[in-house]
Amino acid sequence: MSDIFNPKTERFDRALIKSMSEYKDLVAEFDNDYEGTWAKFADEKIDWFKPYDKVLDESNAPFYKWFSGGEMNVAHQCVDRHLESKKDKTAILFEGDNGDKKTLTYGELAVEVNKTANMFKNQFDIKKGDRVVVYMPMITEAAVVMLACAKIGAIHSIVFGGFSAEALRDRIIDAQAKLVVTADGAFRKGKPYMLKPVVDQALKHGCDCVQNVCVVERNGEEITWVEGRDKSYNELIKNESTSCEPEPMESEEPLFLLYTSGSTGKPKGVQHSSAGYILWAQMTMEWVFDIQDDDTYWCTADIGWITGHTYIVYGPLAAGATTVMFEGVPTFPDAGRCWKMVEEYKINQFYTAPTAIRLLHKMGENEPDKYDLSSLRILGTVGEPIDPPAWKWYYEKIGGSNCSIVDTYWQTETGGHVISPLPAATPIKPACATFPLPGISAEVIEEDGTPTEVGEKGFMCITKPWPSMIRNIWNDSERFKTSYFGDCKKDGKPVYFSGDGAMIDEDGYITITGRTDDVINVSGHRMGTAEVEAAIKKHDKVAAVAVVGKPHEIKGEGIFAYIVLKDANDASEDLKVEINKVIKAEIGAIALCDAMAFVPDLPKTRSGKIMRRILRSIVKGEAITQDTSTLEDPSIVGVIEGIVKL
Ligand code: WT7
Repeated sequence: MSDIFNPKTERFDRALIKSMSEYKDLVAEFDNDYEGTWAKFADEKIDWFKPYDKVLDESNAPFYKWFSGGEMNVAHQCVDRHLESKKDKTAILFEGDNGDKKTLTYGELAVEVNKTANMFKNQFDIKKGDRVVVYMPMITEAAVVMLACAKIGAIHSIVFGGFSAEALRDRIIDAQAKLVVTADGAFRKGKPYMLKPVVDQALKHGCDCVQNVCVVERNGEEITWVEGRDKSYNELIKNESTSCEPEPMESEEPLFLLYTSGSTGKPKGVQHSSAGYILWAQMTMEWVFDIQDDDTYWCTADIGWITGHTYIVYGPLAAGATTVMFEGVPTFPDAGRCWKMVEEYKINQFYTAPTAIRLLHKMGENEPDKYDLSSLRILGTVGEPIDPPAWKWYYEKIGGSNCSIVDTYWQTETGGHVISPLPAATPIKPACATFPLPGISAEVIEEDGTPTEVGEKGFMCITKPWPSMIRNIWNDSERFKTSYFGDCKKDGKPVYFSGDGAMIDEDGYITITGRTDDVINVSGHRMGTAEVEAAIKKHDKVAAVAVVGKPHEIKGEGIFAYIVLKDANDASEDLKVEINKVIKAEIGAIALCDAMAFVPDLPKTRSGKIMRRILRSIVKGEAITQDTSTLEDPSIVGVIEGIVKL
């Protein structure tokens, strides 16, 4: 499908970037005066308490600083500053799994945030810079807790509710959290599920840093309370004052940590700043989603991922928008759930992952026909490459061939979108992220900075620092440098490398070709092969293991494990189930293997390095083109191929 879809300009008459020539002008403006142009936007968008001294400080690269010396507060930016004009506008529109509805206006949100902020200070002694781990479902209190942390300068670290107690514990310990905020549980597919028992399990050992657990009531199921440690949010909130002064935050002071998988070792605590992060969250909300005052916007992500941070909570609220929070799943009670909500709330922007689109497409080609989806103007996708058939269904069936699709490419580390179509400007090629956003120097290059030839794969790099970029890896500055600034250079200077490969076509369009490292993208979620392997090795019958991604019809990639047992006679289907149980306990259900093969050995070089490329080819059923002569035992390749084909 090489067709070009021109933007429906008439539907975007209020867009900030209205045409390709306006896009090009803005790109040129950044090229001519990079810092000056960023300063212009920072001055226009952020409600500064104290002006900054310097736009960009590169003196300690790659530990870049933006807007140093400036003071502001993200909760003020997202809530308080809107009160004058938007007190009664809906800020958050919540729909529960069971269809419960609840709205919070900006005025009500301000009150909840202030009460919660006061509770954190008064009841839990939380001070600026303290870490608060949040293990919560998709309920309004989760957004309130994030903003309450921001209001008092505490650093939140949200852990996705699908992670296990072990994974939660690792993150609590790494962040040295003082407080954990959770809920009894929530609802999923019409049934209650539990979160608090997972927290109890996580805190069983090694978490001396945690002084309290604050529990929000959601599903009303019975939970156990640890005397002195556990406190009820719903009880404490009753007595707190409704006003709270925002903590002035220096631009670079951290807003949050969010753990994400790397290619090796344990998850990395990606550290984001206050001013630079919120600036770009707001700007991309305005540019990419063309958010207008009368719009209702819905992103289906979970706040446990960066998409939920930037595009459910911070971006929409900084832009003064109405944002939908949905507790449930797109397939319950049926495949029409999302479309029913779009119709009912007259959603204007709908943002989801290709996995969800593929699944809903498969569940009912014509299901969307039952609903009035004419309110939609923009459809977004994120997290993984979208394939042309899914794109086409999304465009025609959901968008009525009358919407712009924004295929937004970005990462936990980039804070916000970096490559994306602009709805009123960019002629779209299906399943292509298109062009870098103005201000973002995204380039496809070779390791030495040479631009790749048209149609050749290269490294997806961002060659200049930008305001919403990752600032550090919590507790591991060295890993920050080597993970992101160790592979590629431009003009002799290390530049940010995303870990993705990409390709530029003859018209300059960028297509992301996927990770070049040992990271798998399962349903748009990042999973490090090293983490899954470490979990599998915990099973006492396992001698060695290598994990690779296997193309999957719905998930994009699934997880496939090659396992060498200590005793080959133990191989059985039951053992596979047992191994998956270990993975679920160590990481969570999101890391379960779709398939496993018990093999006599792994293809290793004479120096002991596992040749993963061969394992990736075998699982895809591709011919082995790699040179196998350097292997310790070249015959193992044929043996493994035989086993996998069975
Ligand atoms: C990785 C980042 C960004 C929020 C959700 C995931 C892949 C992301 C796209 C896209 C192709 C994409 C990349 C990236 N990715 N968006 N539009 N097209 N691939 O955040 O967990 O940090 O994962 O997701 O491989 O590196 P994340």
